[in-house]
Amino acid sequence: MPTVLVTGAGRGLGLEFVRQYAADGWTVIATARAPDKSAELQTLCKAASGRIKLHPLDVVDHGAIEAFAARLAGVPIDVLLHNSGTMGSHTFAGQGMKAQRFGESHYEEWDYQFRVNALAPMKLSEALVENVAASGERKIVALSTIMASIGGNSLGGFYAYRSSKAALNAILKSMALDLARRAIIVAPLHPGWAATDMGGAGAPVRPQHSVAGLRQVIAGLTREKSGRFWQFDGKELGW
Ligand SMILES: NC(=O)c1ccc[n+]([C@@H]2O[C@H](COP(=O)([O-])OP(=O)(O)OC[C@H]3O[C@@H](n4cnc5c(N)ncnc54)[C@H](OP(=O)(O)O)[C@@H]3O)[C@@H](O)[C@H]2O)c1
Repeated sequence: MPTVLVTGAGRGLGLEFVRQYAADGWTVIATARAPDKSAELQTLCKAASGRIKLHPLDVVDHGAIEAFAARLAGVPIDVLLHNSGTMGSHTFAGQGMKAQRFGESHYEEWDYQFRVNALAPMKLSEALVENVAASGERKIVALSTIMASIGGNSLGGFYAYRSSKAALNAILKSMALDLARRAIIVAPLHPGWAATDMGGAGAPVRPQHSVAGLRQVIAGLTREKSGRFWQFDGKELGW
């Protein structure tokens, strides 16, 4: 069976990806800042008889990424799934559209969102590209957001989150072009507005539904669909 690597696997959509891929028989390399602190991840791991492998990883720690990649040398990774993401402390779930307004920028948080949302997927992809190239499926995907769409922005605000995820999209577009010669498929994905800590309890899309859809989208990615922006229901989004 294929192998998926999921970052930010301790809660939210990351945890749901681990649950669904493991239930489907995949080998799952699940990373989280503190895997020991996620009781749900621990329970899933115990039930999966060795098919879920847990690794502590803070994705902004480039030294830790290099050490992690060295440990994984020679292990094929069919789907490298960059799930970790942050909106900082001024979130939609907490403050609605009042979060991250003009005149209220928190530059340290903005910098951190860039490091988590944009630079970490780049660094981890560079570190693990040989693992992906050695696999059967050869896919690198990342959870972006429709809020990264510049053409689709009709509400304003969310400067840090929008710009860091738009940077992620730009990075993945270049990566899709650069890695095409190695037959590696790369795509940003929008999970819908999903009921997690980030999305808030009132969000309309259940994590189970979002992840089931995203897994279908990932399974259906072809070289022709690489470098394009996909929503969890299969719809293509504009940049
Ligand atoms: N929910 C939505 O409506 C929605 C919509 C569009 C896009 N997205 C994107 O979907 C992805 C998952 O979101 P979610 O809703 O599941 O959010 P969430 O519940 O807030 O979970 C965020 C995940 O990212 C991890 N993370 C944050 N900073 C990290 C770091 N420095 N190193 C490693 N992991 C880190 C968190 O780990 P800890 O537990 O250690 O904090 C957690 O596992 C994110 O990229 C998000 O931007 C979500």
